[in-house]
Amino acid sequence: MNSQPKLRILLTRHEIEGTITRLAGELNRDYQGKHPLLLGVLKGSFMFMADLIRRLDFPLEVEFIRLASYGRGRESSGRIKVVQGLRAPIRGRDVLVIEDIVDTGRTTSFLLDYLRRKRSASVKLCALTDKPSRRQVPVTIDYLGCTVPDKFIVGYGLDWDEKFRYLPDICFVEFED
Ligand code: IMP
Ligand code: MG
Repeated sequence: MNSQPKLRILLTRHEIEGTITRLAGELNRDYQGKHPLLLGVLKGSFMFMADLIRRLDFPLEVEFIRLASYGRGRESSGRIKVVQGLRAPIRGRDVLVIEDIVDTGRTTSFLLDYLRRKRSASVKLCALTDKPSRRQVPVTIDYLGCTVPDKFIVGYGLDWDEKFRYLPDICFVEFED
């Protein structure tokens, strides 16, 4: 049978907006006088990136990278590869990675190692959400939006099987058998 998942709001669009305003304040304080490269991890971070950067008041550049894990369903397998790489050189740059969620930490930890090997001046992480209960690899989140419970979330860029990215609120999915 094809059961439809039920969606329940976890973070409203207003809560997300408030969170982003706070994060932007922290970044505006820390990146004054710098010219960082904001690196969004596709696809999940696109909406967060768009809303965040319009609140920033220092010069910056925007890049995207696309990663894939050889995963099945809702689990990331831990074997990550770069599907669409960087176009801009990052040697000597201050790089700020923009993530939708840190779950097991495997994807983010792979990316941070990858960027540091390319001899960037600094690599920091800004994540809209964090699911610490699921962590398998330690990751330091320099700028964190919200901690979320151990539930699968969608909306505001986050998908379930490419669905629900367009929702303006972040919802959790109740899977029914
Ligand atoms: P990781 O387990 O930390 O490596 O997370 C890998 C990726 O899985 C994240 O960047 C998201 O794209 C996706 N992901 C993890 N948890 C969720 C979730 O609750 N909803 C939607 N996508 C998720
Ligand atoms: Mg992601």
